[in-house]
Amino acid sequence: MTQRLVIATHNKGKLVEMGDLLAPYGFACVSAGELGLPEPEETATTFVGNAELKAEAAMQGSNLPSLADDSGIVVEALDGAPGIYSARWAEIDGKRDFGHAMKRVHEELGANANRRAYFISALSFAEPGKPIRSFEGRVHGTLVWPPRGSRGFGYDPMFLPDGYTETFGEMEPLAKHAISHRAIAFMKLVEGMGWKVTPGAVPAMTLLMKEPR
Ligand code: IMP
Repeated sequence: MTQRLVIATHNKGKLVEMGDLLAPYGFACVSAGELGLPEPEETATTFVGNAELKAEAAMQGSNLPSLADDSGIVVEALDGAPGIYSARWAEIDGKRDFGHAMKRVHEELGANANRRAYFISALSFAEPGKPIRSFEGRVHGTLVWPPRGSRGFGYDPMFLPDGYTETFGEMEPLAKHAISHRAIAFMKLVEGMGWKVTPGAVPAMTLLMKEPR
């Protein structure tokens, strides 16, 4: 039996990615966007705070279990910036440009020798009538300049994870997914919720591809 679950996002890419991760556990995912739910303003000051307010709003609006994520990059020598403003640092003339965001990080670091940073992902799961649960994943590394690689997204090309010689922008996507902050948070979620793989579950991508266009 599958359980309907709302992914608190209006981003189709995130829906497919989360849907694929969740499908083995017997969840059929629908996005907050598809349900016409409004996007709440991310007014919290922490990643978990923002993930919780998105999950809570989707659960209230749909009366279904809802999952939300919030992520970003935290740079030690910049007192944690860009942090929850990681996406906003890329905004220029109403568009997102991560070349611009990476350059800003590089310029603000200046001659500072401390290049330590981590990516963080917070996942919050809200179910009607139950306390909200949140899980956090981090991957630590150093920042390089100039950026390397054209894979991934966001700040990937300037992030060298500890113990590797390739940046997230150079790595095979599957290699990144295996060690990423999102993967760690997701594993903690599955473990924390006690979810078990459902025999015969179909990956969400397959379901999407079968839908008439
Ligand atoms: P949000 O979670 O959709 O608010 O996005 C957070 C922002 O953090 C993204 O737009 C990216 O800039 C950055 N970010 C989060 N995860 C990653 C990652 O895995 N690689 C590169 N950038 C990331």
